[in-house]
Amino acid sequence: MAQTKIRKAVFPVAGLGTRFLPATKAVPKEMLTVVDKPVIQYVVDEAAEAGIEHFVFVTGRGKGVIEDYFDIQFELEQMLRERNKNAELSLLADLLPTAGTASFTRQQVPLGLGHAIWCARDIVGNEPFAVLLPDMIMSSEKSCLKGMIEIYEETGGNVLAVEECDPEMAHKYGIVGVGDKVGEGFKVTEMVEKPAKGTAPSNFYINGRYILQPEIFGILETQERGAGNEIQLTDGMLALAKQQEFAAYHFKGETFDCGAKDGFILANLAFALQRGDIRPAIEGPLREMVAKLS
Ligand code: UTP
Repeated sequence: MAQTKIRKAVFPVAGLGTRFLPATKAVPKEMLTVVDKPVIQYVVDEAAEAGIEHFVFVTGRGKGVIEDYFDIQFELEQMLRERNKNAELSLLADLLPTAGTASFTRQQVPLGLGHAIWCARDIVGNEPFAVLLPDMIMSSEKSCLKGMIEIYEETGGNVLAVEECDPEMAHKYGIVGVGDKVGEGFKVTEMVEKPAKGTAPSNFYINGRYILQPEIFGILETQERGAGNEIQLTDGMLALAKQQEFAAYHFKGETFDCGAKDGFILANLAFALQRGDIRPAIEGPLREMVAKLS
């Protein structure tokens, strides 16, 4: 059945980034660099690769630099032109979103992820949309969102990306129950946020990518605050699951949580090692460092 195309993606970038202080006191965590690009660029690239046409950023206080990053930098570009730095100029031009395809709205107070998504309701309108948590970046052959859209085209409804975790760690995540197989994924039978030890329905955890139907906005509008006194997206999805189907895409690449120091460092190493221009310079010293550990 032909489904409504997923055209818009929401990037909630209004969080405080307390896990990464002091770096995030003056620089949004989404602007910290993995090799030579800010974290947010990786997530936008993933969305673009999946065919997303409109990029919606929910920003907050102190996050203005994200908006600047997706704009032209007139003085810099003028200077590059005068110095015939054509490769650098075309790199910047390639990364610039087409005019009118990026929207920015503000979450004035960081009341939680669910509230941040609700702030995008007017820009998204009455159509299904994607949500990408910008601090989770992924390395894989097929973009995670692309795989999710393939499932969505079969099932419609809502789609989550999931990965397997050590069953012992399931109590730390949002976990889904596994139903009938669909393509590279399955129908979701239940969702449980941080299940008590030994009670998780599976070891498949939700990894920070969602395709949601617009009915989520009405639910989030009146939703009470939940864990951490925040308006939680998970609570909204649990309410939505009472009315609509959820499916899951089993993502098989690597995910790095760049909102945490260890995940960020691993992301830098992994992406640097994938780069032909950088790997030769770091491989030897890295091996020496690792050898000294043992
Ligand atoms: P996190 O809990 O990982 O982000 O939220 P945080 O609050 O910035 O991080 P810590 O825990 O203090 O270090 C997941 C995503 O939701 C966004 C964050 O920016 C992040 O991308 N978020 C969270 C909002 O946009 N608004 C909020 O009120 C909360």
